[in-house]
Amino acid sequence: MRAITHTLTDIVSAAFEKCGYDPSLGTVSVSDRMDLCQFQCNGAFAAAKMYHKAPFIVAGEVAAVLAEEPLIGRAEVAKPGFLNITLRDEGLISLMSDIAADGNLGVPQAEKPETIIIDYGGPNVAKPLHIGHLRSAIIGEAIKRLARATGRRVYGDIHMGDWGLQIGLVITELRRRNPDWPCFAPDFPADGRTPELDVDILNEVYPAASKRSKEDPDYKAEAQTATVELQNGRYAALWKEIMRVSVADLKRNYDRLGVDFDLWYGESNARRYEPRLMEILTSKGLLVESEGAKVVEVATDEDKAPMPPVIIKKSDNSSIYATTDLSTLIQRQEDFAPDRVWYVVDKRQSLHFTQVFRCARKAGLVGENCELEFLGFGTMNGPDGHAYKTRDGGVMRLSDLLDAAERAAAEKLSASEFTDGSDLTDTARKVGAAAIKFGDLINHRSKDYIFDMDKFLSFEGKTGTYLLYTVTRINSILKKAGMDDCAPVAAAKVYTDAERNLMLTILLSGEAFDRAFEEKAPNYICESAYDLATAFSRFYHENHILSEADAEKRAAWLGLCALTKRLLVKHLDVLGIEAVESM
Ligand code: ARG
Repeated sequence: MRAITHTLTDIVSAAFEKCGYDPSLGTVSVSDRMDLCQFQCNGAFAAAKMYHKAPFIVAGEVAAVLAEEPLIGRAEVAKPGFLNITLRDEGLISLMSDIAADGNLGVPQAEKPETIIIDYGGPNVAKPLHIGHLRSAIIGEAIKRLARATGRRVYGDIHMGDWGLQIGLVITELRRRNPDWPCFAPDFPADGRTPELDVDILNEVYPAASKRSKEDPDYKAEAQTATVELQNGRYAALWKEIMRVSVADLKRNYDRLGVDFDLWYGESNARRYEPRLMEILTSKGLLVESEGAKVVEVATDEDKAPMPPVIIKKSDNSSIYATTDLSTLIQRQEDFAPDRVWYVVDKRQSLHFTQVFRCARKAGLVGENCELEFLGFGTMNGPDGHAYKTRDGGVMRLSDLLDAAERAAAEKLSASEFTDGSDLTDTARKVGAAAIKFGDLINHRSKDYIFDMDKFLSFEGKTGTYLLYTVTRINSILKKAGMDDCAPVAAAKVYTDAERNLMLTILLSGEAFDRAFEEKAPNYICESAYDLATAFSRFYHENHILSEADAEKRAAWLGLCALTKRLLVKHLDVLGIEAVESM
């Protein structure tokens, strides 16, 4: 199905044309005065200029044509020339059945096939997953699901940092502690057996190494050398063991968050494409020497701020972050020929991506029409307005944050009147995750926000908890009525205003999906879910569904409950939030 404003735009454009005006004047938008009308068209003002007529006259002519339209109940002209449109109730009801029967529940689908790669997560192997990576996971997952829900082919790529200095640091620390391990010998085979590591060792070794390298320049140099050696093929067996342990731990953490990736690639996967990158850059004459390094100039005349060249090879001939991202683009182009590649990364990396994208375009690494976009996100702050920390000021582990959220949710649920004795542990896990995710996603991704577990767990307001609670409330109504989600949507008429308002809100969720996709911003899905929940609450309070004596009316209302639930669950699913049966 198409978004309702598109359907109405077609109808109103045809009406303009029928009156002898340009059809492009018929753009319809959602009304900003819902008390007056549901939709509006302001095309008469532009028409007035083009055709030298009063806007009021033009709007009047178009309104007269629209009066014949079966979908439109009222098309009224408001001075000086607004066209106010309200749907016929029968039209609204038939759109509800269309949505209920649509496999995508009315979510507008892409008009042409499209392949999108979303690069998100971006954890660094061998380092414990900390909350700095939480936003990338939550936002990236939601954008991936959003793109899928709107009919795109999407690949989520975790793009692990598995090839950089952090591995060199871990190798250095392990070698200092265990100089006798055979895997440190220069000729140790890549498939040789190394001592088994585990996640506790890694969690202890990396911070120790990182601390030491900041204090001891020799240690740092040793780690840098180890990194270059690693990139030249040494320590392959140890690297594999570090990867085995680390990736298993990452999977556990992302699983808990309901985040999953189609491609578990890392920076190391890009190195195969590096020779090709060098070849392309050289043959196109893009590579220049600068202070011993090899760089590509990416500044343009329009730049207002200085735009440094992108470094491809440092003076010691080692590759850096940009080299990897460029090589990865060659791989992505080769494997998927994507229409779009999106990066969900901390907004402080904006310059890096500007440089990479410009270089990729100059070198023609991706198709000319391929959209490369950096979807930067802001910081998650603590109550003091500074980056969220543990009580003692350290970096918070992701698993600790999730544990804390589950505990808080369990406490809240056991103290609340809403619990009905269902599996508390499982419900608390879902409620905790929902609270964190919704608390994050309700903010536009580019904004910083304050992490406030109490607020996120509130049963009122724009929270994941409120939305889950609304779903459980609908479940309970349907259960009491002996119905399920498939209760048929078949009203003979619209009985009340709150019911009409709920139908309209259901209809407008299609607009939210369109907008969220266009702006790559899941917060519009959050808002739409919240609108649905509040429209439902009003409907529920104003209409006594279960005790309604008129069988036809009761059935119509139950059908609307079922449709609301399905659509709300669809919103939640796009946000990566699992619904609960009861609370
Ligand atoms: N590992 C990087 C970091 O922790 C993020 C990777 C982002 N993705 C990319 N293609 N550069 O900062």
